[in-house]
Amino acid sequence: MFIGFLAFLHVSCSAPPKLGKSSIKDVIDAMTLEEKAYFVTGTGMDMASPGSKASEERTAGALVVGQSPKLVPGAAGTTYEIARLGIPAMVLADGPAGLRISPRRENDSATYYCTAFPVSTLLASTWDPELAYKVGQAMGNEVLEYGADVLLGPAMNIHRNPLCGRNFEYYSEDPLITGRIAASIVNGVESQGVGTSIKHFAGNNTETNRNALDTIVSERALREIYLEGFRIAVEEAQPWTVMSSYNLINGVFTSESHDLLAKVLRNDWGFSGLVMSDWFGGADAVAQMKAGNELLMPGTVAQANAIIRGVKEGKLDVAQLDRNIERILNIIVQTPRFKGYKHSNKPDLKAHATVARTTASEGMVLLKNDKGALPLFSGRKLAAFGNTSYDIISGGTGSGDVNEAYSVSLVDGLKNAGYTLDEELQAAYGLYINEAKAKQPKARDFMPKARIKEMTVSAPIASKTAGAADAALITIGRSSGEFFDRKVEGDFNFTPEEIGMIKVVSDAFHAKGKKSIVVLNIGGVVETSTWSRMPDAILLAWQGGQESGNSIADVLSGKVNPSGKLASTFPIRYEDVPSSKNFPGVVVDHSKTAPADPADGMSAFQNPKASRIVYEEGIYVGYRYYETFGVKPAYEFGYGLSYTSFEFGKLTLSAQSFAGEITATLDVKNVGKAAGKEVVQVYLAAPTKQLEKPAVELKSFCKTRLLNPGESQTLSFVLKLHQLASFDPAASSWIAEAGRYEVKIGASSRDIRQTGSFILDKDLIVKQESSALVLKEKINELKRRDLK
Ligand code: BGC
Repeated sequence: MFIGFLAFLHVSCSAPPKLGKSSIKDVIDAMTLEEKAYFVTGTGMDMASPGSKASEERTAGALVVGQSPKLVPGAAGTTYEIARLGIPAMVLADGPAGLRISPRRENDSATYYCTAFPVSTLLASTWDPELAYKVGQAMGNEVLEYGADVLLGPAMNIHRNPLCGRNFEYYSEDPLITGRIAASIVNGVESQGVGTSIKHFAGNNTETNRNALDTIVSERALREIYLEGFRIAVEEAQPWTVMSSYNLINGVFTSESHDLLAKVLRNDWGFSGLVMSDWFGGADAVAQMKAGNELLMPGTVAQANAIIRGVKEGKLDVAQLDRNIERILNIIVQTPRFKGYKHSNKPDLKAHATVARTTASEGMVLLKNDKGALPLFSGRKLAAFGNTSYDIISGGTGSGDVNEAYSVSLVDGLKNAGYTLDEELQAAYGLYINEAKAKQPKARDFMPKARIKEMTVSAPIASKTAGAADAALITIGRSSGEFFDRKVEGDFNFTPEEIGMIKVVSDAFHAKGKKSIVVLNIGGVVETSTWSRMPDAILLAWQGGQESGNSIADVLSGKVNPSGKLASTFPIRYEDVPSSKNFPGVVVDHSKTAPADPADGMSAFQNPKASRIVYEEGIYVGYRYYETFGVKPAYEFGYGLSYTSFEFGKLTLSAQSFAGEITATLDVKNVGKAAGKEVVQVYLAAPTKQLEKPAVELKSFCKTRLLNPGESQTLSFVLKLHQLASFDPAASSWIAEAGRYEVKIGASSRDIRQTGSFILDKDLIVKQESSALVLKEKINELKRRDLK
């Protein structure tokens, strides 16, 4: 009201300019300083715990600016509307596995469910950017039809350590697959006329103390591993927005880092969209404005006031503020809300469920299949063990969760596929799960629920069940989500009850000449070596979204031949992980108090402990480490079985020495008995002169079309100069070193089927980058100090 009155005074002499009709400059010039400050800070969020300081700020944020954050209830945030200048709000909503909004609204009988697509880890395991594009299209359509403007995803941090609680939202340990799948999602979503926000930029590979965690990392590891996926997504897809992360990199909050946001993102990569902060991220609004973090989300009054003060006190040049506003407006004019799109609130959820189902079955990975235990032809009787056979985990928790209308359980999926189930066992599980749930403390929305301990299966029960069923399925489930990292014991490692169940059931079924199959309903990497010899087959089903049960049944029955491959290594032991000694970081300032209730994630926003995490392993992340240092994994990067087999024909390289680019060509033939698809992976081993190099790096990949038995496909891969290069921090440049490059084409990082080589005859500087994010102290010195 008050603001409205001021605005009236301001424009009383002439009609104000209007966005879309007047120039953006005129629109900005017509804004008051207060309007400018409100515009670069969102309109708040109404979810803080009552009484907290942050809650007052957020509520005040919503009240003072006089706007309702409820244009699309359940969306994560809204920008400030300035009606007199024709500037509509922009609605931003999570997240990577589908649109996250409230499924129900007050005084409204309609529902607003969204499709829960498979989690990102599964999506990466499809190795199929075209399929990812289709997922993006479907997600984007829900964003459009439910009236949101920007989807807060895809999330694309690197799987540095299997314990990161948000790995399910991220793709891979490898930046190429991360970048290509993310670019496809961005292109798919944005094909619908709505935006994306690639996040969390950058180095946010840990949840513990994430709001005050200083990621200490070398420039080379940043450029080659942690930034590279973002670079690919920016250059291939130009997303509307980028979300900066919570953490610091080498001493500076990413949202306050001119090096990251101006030098790397805009200067080196040519990003032309807008940067928003992660929710309540960073510490100094003026520094964020200066760095080019144009929009602070969800926005607080304190931030707006700091910006006003900053301008008045000469700490923030108004020209910088105007530049930020211009970048936001450049995006707003593209939004459906600005264009006056009348959304239907009725996306085609049925069609999108089909996309979810197909995608999930394409990204499941067959880890083991002794003596053709799978497929299990339908019509057979199955005994399903494990809580998650009945209570499927379709995705992770936190902002990456989706409010879907239903999730198909594994047993329902199996019944839909024509199997019969052991009803007695189902009834026993039903009772057990219901009782355990009734005893559980109520988890807050957003927060992970405690896992229900597995029911003890005695040998006599297992044996009785084995007498009546044709095969056993044993499902093991894991859930995780934002705010928390996973634990080694009882999460990465299986519990004694879980291992006991796999053993007792497998023994009982084997004693009767029948098979046992483990289904992993998980979002991230787990330990397998202590139990993997027990069952006949292991299907890594991941968290497959709302159609999970149907998708798993499609693969188990052979309706879909599995073609997923691991996009992250499964190590033998947690200790084998190169970052295991440096995760989840070390608290460096104990003066900040810990959250009163560690399960209360919101307090982590207010009371993070200043911490530091040292990326001591440098560029040796995932298979780059295992392959270089000869550490055998349980299942390597790129691994995955099929119900058929493929032969890789002779590799032809277009030249013996490199001139601009080189093409590798080969035929892949299905030599088995079932139709199937193969993921063909191109690795490069580069010469080591000045710069050390990983033994191999993935440089290209392609999934074949569905090949019938006897059918083959010719595949060609073009390698460009950039793919030969490594980052030399001394020169801030990508350098391709002269020497012999080995091309290794395989069905996994260790199953190399064809090799060839070519020569680069002189050292080449491929690209000069800005000197940025320099690590001033030596990683080892820091580490020694931290460990004292
Ligand atoms: C998460 C972001 C998310 C945002 C809005 C933050 O807690 O880190 O990924 O987009 O909330 O919900």
